[in-house]
Amino acid sequence: MPSTIVVGGFFGDEGKGKIVAHIAQKDEATIIARGGVGPNAGHTINVLNEKYVVRMIPSGFLYPKAELMIGSGVLVDPRVFAHELDILKCAGRTKIDGRCGIIEEAHISLDKKDPHLSKTVGSTGSGCGPANSDRVMRKGRLARDIPELAPYITDVAQNVNDAIENGESVLIEGTQGFGISLYYGNYPFVTSKDTSASQMAADVGVGPTNIDDVVVVFKAFPTRVGEGPFPTELTHEESITLGIQEFGAVTHRERRIGTWDGKMARYSAMINGCTTIAITGVDHVDESVFGATEYAKLTPKVLAFIDQIETDTGKPVGIISTGPDQSHIIDIRSEL
Ligand code: IMP
Ligand code: MG
Repeated sequence: MPSTIVVGGFFGDEGKGKIVAHIAQKDEATIIARGGVGPNAGHTINVLNEKYVVRMIPSGFLYPKAELMIGSGVLVDPRVFAHELDILKCAGRTKIDGRCGIIEEAHISLDKKDPHLSKTVGSTGSGCGPANSDRVMRKGRLARDIPELAPYITDVAQNVNDAIENGESVLIEGTQGFGISLYYGNYPFVTSKDTSASQMAADVGVGPTNIDDVVVVFKAFPTRVGEGPFPTELTHEESITLGIQEFGAVTHRERRIGTWDGKMARYSAMINGCTTIAITGVDHVDESVFGATEYAKLTPKVLAFIDQIETDTGKPVGIISTGPDQSHIIDIRSEL
């Protein structure tokens, strides 16, 4: 039974939410633990005609048998957390680590007011940068200090390691993307923490020797919200012509769109220690594969694109997403 980390390979919004929900179900995860920065991330999941955006609860919530946990490295906004528990009706199986940092109203207003954060960096305004800053200064409050959170507090690291020890399947859900890592992205146009797989493992308290698989999610046409370099960026007109305009799940800002960046993908796969690639949005490469659920239905154009990804990164493509719905997916991991 594997322990798997899922991370974003480009600038975030690669479709990790869908991939996590899929793997949780397929691998029958007993725990889905979220790492990453905090509620600056928005993971979108579409099932039939329902659309969910989660910012705190792991995207694997769709799989009803898993416990949902938030690791100690993640910032918690108690308001967003309470709202999602309510909407998703998952309070009975959700836990957070007592050591999670807390986002206060003051962090949110500072994130929105500060011209460096809001304009130069183009932050999401969710208070993450200022809250992580207070945490580093060792003056921020932690989840264990907040009475309303008491029913949900646990030692996530202990739970996750016990499950791994028992041979259960554990899924570690990363947020953001490699290109906005504080360490490896284009500083200062980055988020307030590293976003690579090693960070996700640390966020939930799992050591590197206890990780079996690292799934790096790339999208066929990468996107970036906020400021910073984007070597393969298309013009606005080009993205409209291609019919691939997108808007942010948290900020509703229009996402900048680019074409496949093999050089970045290779570097990202390397630092993430990628074992398997998940590629999303191949229906934008060839619309005739929209919704395909079998590998045999992929067209020469899409197969050539998959070949290109494998050549660029030196890693195998194991999961292919062919459309927005949860069912639009091909999983060939067991054949790799
Ligand atoms: P912050 O994380 O809100 O401070 O924002 C810093 C930069 O990271 C901005 O360019 C944001 O748009 C970007 N960012 C943060 N979280 C995400 C995410 O989950 N997806 C995409 N971009 C993000
Ligand atoms: Mg997102």
